[in-house]
Amino acid sequence: MHIPSFQIDPSAWVDGKYLRGKELAGEIRKKIRDEATRKGVVPGLAALLVGNDPASEIYVSSKEKNASEMGFYSIVNKMPQTSTTEEILEIVDAWNADDKIHGILVQLPLPRQIDEARVLQTILPEKDADGFHYENMGRLMAKADGTVACTPLGVMVMLKEAGIETTGKNAVVLGRSNIVGKPMAQLLLDGGNCTVTVCHSRTKNINDIISQADILVSAMGVRGIVDESRIKPGSVVIDVGMHRVDGKLKGDLDYEKTLDKVSYVTPVPGGVGPMTIAMLLYNTYRNALSLKGIQL
Ligand code: GUN
Repeated sequence: MHIPSFQIDPSAWVDGKYLRGKELAGEIRKKIRDEATRKGVVPGLAALLVGNDPASEIYVSSKEKNASEMGFYSIVNKMPQTSTTEEILEIVDAWNADDKIHGILVQLPLPRQIDEARVLQTILPEKDADGFHYENMGRLMAKADGTVACTPLGVMVMLKEAGIETTGKNAVVLGRSNIVGKPMAQLLLDGGNCTVTVCHSRTKNINDIISQADILVSAMGVRGIVDESRIKPGSVVIDVGMHRVDGKLKGDLDYEKTLDKVSYVTPVPGGVGPMTIAMLLYNTYRNALSLKGIQL
């Protein structure tokens, strides 16, 4: 496992207590674009959207827009809600065989009739853009090199680029999903040298646990799960939550209520979200180099 270093000046994106992921992601995208141009590589990203979940449509179109702006080769395939597993596998197989494509992403969640595990395991591990293939998940557990899930990777890059010391710190992760919670805990453990506690929907006394957290990552997908007044003074709070409240995008926490306690906090919107997309592009770029036998 390797947390990349982009060496972006914190003054470009750390704004007082705010970790402005939007600005950091912009700088990282520029670096990747310039490096790809210098190496003469055109990374290719293929995204598959099944059905018409409005949030997924927004994510996929944002990924596509970012990839195109960076000069990546980019394809989006939109399939109907009623698609079968076989139809989806046919598309993945074609992308696996296409030399122009180095990153494959299947937007989750998939409609219920589709065998999600079978679809994700059909993506070639070396073309996996999300790190959801079991081989890449296993590599993360084993501390071996592989593709790491974009959101947790984006959080680690933010901590590293901001120069936040993680070694020996108490990290608390709220949420145990395969997409965020579990890889996040693993990265904080092995990459960050933290003492990690993972909380979930069945955890008792979450607020007692978060009051001990030097680094708190909320990926519970439940708004209001944390009492902001219990956050440890001087801590770093990373909010992965995304909720629409009265038409506005909000996190699992209200970051305004954390400001008197934290040393750093990620706002929502403009915090972790844009970093997820930057890491998707990074994973695709990295896959492209590896598939072409070019050094990173
Ligand atoms: N759905 C929610 N987050 C993600 C993600 O990071 N990747 C994919 N493919 N689907 C998602």
